[in-house]
Amino acid sequence: MNRRTFYAEMAGGKKLDYELYLHTEALLACQKPFDQFCNKDELLFQIVHQVEELWMKSIAYTLLDIDEYLEQQQAFRVLTLFERCNRTLRLMIDQLELLETMSPKEYQEIRLQLGNGSGQESPGFRVLLKIIPNVWPTFERVYLTGRNCTVEKIYDSGYAHDDAYTVAEAMLSFDELFQKFRLHHIYLIQRSIGMGAASLKGRSVDLLQAGAKQRFFPALWDIRAAMTDRWGGSYGRVRDSIGSQAETEGAGGAGEPGGPPGS
Ligand code: HEM
Repeated sequence: MNRRTFYAEMAGGKKLDYELYLHTEALLACQKPFDQFCNKDELLFQIVHQVEELWMKSIAYTLLDIDEYLEQQQAFRVLTLFERCNRTLRLMIDQLELLETMSPKEYQEIRLQLGNGSGQESPGFRVLLKIIPNVWPTFERVYLTGRNCTVEKIYDSGYAHDDAYTVAEAMLSFDELFQKFRLHHIYLIQRSIGMGAASLKGRSVDLLQAGAKQRFFPALWDIRAAMTDRWGGSYGRVRDSIGSQAETEGAGGAGEPGGPPGS
């Protein structure tokens, strides 16, 4: 096939309405010209990063809406929009894997092109790190303080599987998926440059492990451990085996049936 002919076609540039509305000419010019790529993988490398930037822009924009709907207690809207963010995060995680089709050597060639660029300079990621922590105070003000409620009541003593619970769970899924994105990114690094290497800023890439443990909504994680400790209070740290309980019961020594704390 004649590469030159198809390269020209891939640039688009005709003035059809589809192209005009979507600015395809500008979009398709956002990657290096074909003759400037250092190897055949560099186009994919640029596209995956660019697409991920767009997804992060979409998540950031959606979180601003979520914050307003939280304020208005429009739980259905909040749930739909968190679902959108969460589906987007899953896409972002899957798309990282595309770059695992690069060989380590081909990535080293690309890496020489990057100056001292770092993912930590990503505008999408930076704005997300600023926006996400602002979601919790809104949830807290509206769904907790404003209703004289607590995370404990939502999850345990007053558990009703209500709007506050489903919104909290959507937030938790978001937090979990964000961590998963960071974890999968670490696997991508392991595949391409290896952990223990220095980043292009000279920092150890091991530092990324700390970021992958960051929790934006810690209260929603902590409640689970608190519940386990409290519900487990009836049996202490280690529970009798079901087998030994059955033997005791069979010998006519059945105790009180298990139940929630305080029952
Ligand atoms: C072969 C592919 C990739 C490699 C080798 C790689 C490598 C790295 C390294 C070494 C860092 C740490 C930088 C520093 O300490 O300054 C980093 C950070 C980062 N990279 Fe990548 N990356 C790759 C692909 C991607 C992709 C596709 C994205 C998509 C958005 C991305 C987003 C980020 C982000 C957001 C950070 C900051 C993470 C944090 O602070 O937790 N990276 N990357």
